[in-house]
Amino acid sequence: MERIICLLIGYACGLLQTGYLVGKLNHTDIRKSGSGNAGSTNAVRVLGWKAGILTFAGDVLKCVAAIFIVRYLYKESSFLPLLCMYAGIGTTLGHNFPFYLHFNGGKGIAVLAGLVLSFNPLMVPIPLTAFLIAAIFTRYVSLGSLLASSTFFLEVLVFGALGEFNMTAPYRYELYIVVLLLTILAWFRHKENIKRLLASTENKFGSGGKKTA
Ligand code: G3P
Repeated sequence: MERIICLLIGYACGLLQTGYLVGKLNHTDIRKSGSGNAGSTNAVRVLGWKAGILTFAGDVLKCVAAIFIVRYLYKESSFLPLLCMYAGIGTTLGHNFPFYLHFNGGKGIAVLAGLVLSFNPLMVPIPLTAFLIAAIFTRYVSLGSLLASSTFFLEVLVFGALGEFNMTAPYRYELYIVVLLLTILAWFRHKENIKRLLASTENKFGSGGKKTA
């Protein structure tokens, strides 16, 4: 039952579509321009840095808020890290598939940043470094996003093996599965980006971008 409550808390927080709202404040639906994504990369592309930073901050903070609520409600739980991860995947689902926008939202990477930050700040540097190296050297933000989500999964396996999460084996294995699902979800939402990366037609950051997906 706790798992479902945490998923729902996350989903509710994830519904706050910062990119969509920032776009509407600027009299545009960012899902109809650039890459068509309601995330911070596309907000920068379509509306500029200020809108992009606002979108990123809002998307990070909604996941931080979801995990804060779960930590407060279940502070005594013996599997609190797992419940936090359910809140994280719930927030990602709300963000990626908001029911009131025909299930067409973002790709969940800023939400993932909020999740990693509030789950365990010590886990931030590795996915962040993977993201920055890929995004700066190739200018493909999507490639950075794919590497960040994958390195986070590997990091969770390593931290789990080192006993960092302080949970018994069944909960720990369940945590690995939830994070694996989160990673698959990130790759799934980037499927059009992956096709473009393979065809060398992906939008390079800073070079504008047409409505591609
Ligand atoms: O976080 C989204 C990013 O990985 C890709 O965004 O707009 O280029 O599809 P976009």
